[in-house]
Amino acid sequence: MEFIKNIIGEELSTFEKKFAESVKSQIPLLDRIMKYIIKRKGKQLRPMFVFLSAKLHGPINESTYRAAALVELLHTATLVHDDVVDESLERRGFFSINAIWKNKIAVLVGDYLLSKGLLLSTDNNDFEHLRILSQAVKQMSEGELLQIEKARNLNLKEDIYFEIIRNKTASLLSSACAAGAWSTSKDEVIGNKMRLFGEKVGIAFQIKDDLFDYGKEDIGKPTGNDIKEKKLTLPLIYTLNKISAAKKRELIYIIKNDNKNPEKVKHVIDTVVASGGIDYAAEKMNNYRDEALTVLHEFEDNEVRKALEELVRYTTDRKY
Ligand code: IPE
Ligand code: IPE
Ligand code: MG
Ligand code: MG
Repeated sequence: MEFIKNIIGEELSTFEKKFAESVKSQIPLLDRIMKYIIKRKGKQLRPMFVFLSAKLHGPINESTYRAAALVELLHTATLVHDDVVDESLERRGFFSINAIWKNKIAVLVGDYLLSKGLLLSTDNNDFEHLRILSQAVKQMSEGELLQIEKARNLNLKEDIYFEIIRNKTASLLSSACAAGAWSTSKDEVIGNKMRLFGEKVGIAFQIKDDLFDYGKEDIGKPTGNDIKEKKLTLPLIYTLNKISAAKKRELIYIIKNDNKNPEKVKHVIDTVVASGGIDYAAEKMNNYRDEALTVLHEFEDNEVRKALEELVRYTTDRKY
């Protein structure tokens, strides 16, 4: 992180001011919620990917800042909605929006953030950014809905899991890298390579997030929540396909009928750990990380590329 801050630290602090400015509202309730959101900002990984992807191909400009703000606005909007969908009460180490203001308000706040992103682009004729990011917004909704559908019939296939995370998570990281690169290069070939790079990072990123759910560390949001929501993620999919039919029936029963019982959920988690599901998912994650680095290495070696490489490694080595 230190090295990354040396490369884009100034841009990131300017970004924070611009971002806070971009969500202000005349409606007191909304403004209060926006202040709450800004105070508990996340890791800001996506803006970092925007800035570094941009800087790799030319000097950062005003449209790079707008791309970073657009991406973070969309990300924040989806988190606010995601916590409603997942009935999750904790986010970024504090109460989620739905925990404090309830679902009705959280849904509208998510829409507000989305519209602020769209306006930021249309007001400045950033139509290419809009084109790149609208694709991601569509895919994120599709990914979350596909996930709900598969949670209902407890689908156990790895390829479906990858389709879900490619849509719900990797699409935004991919668009972040593509839009950043576009803001300085205006080059389609570069844009496509950066999109592929971002997609691979995004898949590794979500596998890491799914691994956190099996851990006990404080990551600023609930763990063990995926099983409660009947979300079958990679460690569990691997386990279910590996254990005996009887054990599989037992776990499926718990996921279907006992998913709110902490003892039973712990039994599922313990089985996943014992059967190597965590190690398997970690290995897959590292493969995607390495594929991302291979794409990145098609570009010339310099300080910015080194910083991007460090950011990729942070994505898979992070503690929250
Ligand atoms: C969380 O993303 C949502 C997922 C796609 C897993 P982050 O972990 O980047 O969230 P913040 O912005 O740092 O809180
Ligand atoms: C990512 O999935 C959600 C989005 C892409 C918005 P999760 O549901 O796993 O994200 P967290 O764990 O709640 O942050
Ligand atoms: Mg969630
Ligand atoms: Mg998660």
